[in-house]
Amino acid sequence: MSSTLFRTKKVEQSILDTEEPEHALKKSLSALDLTVFGVGVIIGTGIFVLTGTVAKDNAGPATALAFVAAGVACALAALCYAEFASTVPVAGSAYTFSYASLGELAAWTIGWDLVLEFALGTAVVAVGWSGYIQSLMDNAGWTMPAGLGSREGADAFGFDILAAALVLVLTGILVLGMKLSARITSIVVAIKVTVVLVVIIAGAFLIKGANYDPFIPKEQPVEAGASLDSPLIQLMFGWAPSNFGVMGIFTAASVVFFAFIGFDVVATAAEETKNPQRDMPRGILGSLLICTTLYVLVSIVVTGMQHYSELSVDAPLADAFKATGHPWFAGFISFGAAVGLTTVCMILLLGQTRVFFAMSRDGLLPRFFSRVHPRFKTPHRPTILLGVIIAILAGFTPLTELAALVNIGTLFAFVVVAIGVIILRKSRPDLPRAFRTPWVPVIPILSVCASLWLMINLPAETWVRFAIWMAAGFLLYFLYGRSHSRLARRGSGEEQPSVGGGTP
Ligand code: ALA
Repeated sequence: MSSTLFRTKKVEQSILDTEEPEHALKKSLSALDLTVFGVGVIIGTGIFVLTGTVAKDNAGPATALAFVAAGVACALAALCYAEFASTVPVAGSAYTFSYASLGELAAWTIGWDLVLEFALGTAVVAVGWSGYIQSLMDNAGWTMPAGLGSREGADAFGFDILAAALVLVLTGILVLGMKLSARITSIVVAIKVTVVLVVIIAGAFLIKGANYDPFIPKEQPVEAGASLDSPLIQLMFGWAPSNFGVMGIFTAASVVFFAFIGFDVVATAAEETKNPQRDMPRGILGSLLICTTLYVLVSIVVTGMQHYSELSVDAPLADAFKATGHPWFAGFISFGAAVGLTTVCMILLLGQTRVFFAMSRDGLLPRFFSRVHPRFKTPHRPTILLGVIIAILAGFTPLTELAALVNIGTLFAFVVVAIGVIILRKSRPDLPRAFRTPWVPVIPILSVCASLWLMINLPAETWVRFAIWMAAGFLLYFLYGRSHSRLARRGSGEEQPSVGGGTP
């Protein structure tokens, strides 16, 4: 049995599978498309919403350092991702990479984990988008009925109809085809980046030096009684729960990590890239670098405009301009944020359907989901199924705790990818690698440590939820995936390798 759990899918077979006509996606993306895609998904709720929350609760002006810490962890992971993406250029991201290196059980684990990242991430961003739209509607004098508005902090039963509607519309666009969605994405990304630049440039003139004092606020004890809310590291070492101080920067980093999620999504589009060997690393590292720079500047500006204790947690960037007497800027920023969050949502949804598609093509999920649409060449079945589920989820769920769950899932994927780079270098040194992670195994090991460090700075209850989700995944694998896996059936002679007559 252990040999089946660790059976690996040959890299060459992964590439051959994508060439079967009924399972093939169109190759239409360039390095620029990928970078736009990356920036399109990376800048979102993290910078537009979470900056205010963590500055107020965890790190004050030192939020900029939290972005640096999270950015370093992501850069290390990106160097590993880039090698994998350029070696295994097929749909599925970390899932595909681990199938080729760590074996089927690890691949299943990571695929299941990515479903969590992308599905909940899509829902979180849709809810954030709905909040911004409602704030714009309020400006125009229209108010949503309470039962159809945001779920965040709401007591009564309700359904966030705008969030759900957004997910359904985006699902339709993705079913119609990649090219259309890439074009829409570029326009929206331009608007979003303009808004971020306006915040940085206009905001720089409104900074008051006194707001940076103290830059790292003094550590403050937290009321007892909320132990599961505390970072796991505080429980592990029996520290008294506290906010701010140096450890507050790391708590903030583990939250604002959400702002970086998405660069890994670029890797999920490898199969639709014209020249993945060259363009993947460029797309991943390029978009990460642009975003990190913007985040650090935005957080420095915003905490300089308004004292951290007064920042708003719903729309901190816009409200900082309101507070300094510039409502016109505030309206423009809210509008841009609402537009920008649309692409984030769409690309997370895209990443999610591609992972699901790849898992089903491998037989770990029913193969019904891996037939592409005869005309649009898109995996329409998983797109529609997941779109509907996520729309329901987005309608009913408040976003804050979900963001932590998304982060832990993503960080876990980073750990597996980094380990995979080391293993694949040893097991398949012969494979051509257009991009090689420098200083292996040092960089992958540092990447594992950085991801684990952020993980233990997340609340203990997030760990509990994550454990439950993963346990459900294992159950599904042992009840379905293990016996239906395409590799298993090839092994037993039920299915012949389909292209070129043989597996290398
Ligand atoms: N990084 C994306 C965001 O901040 C997911 O919304």
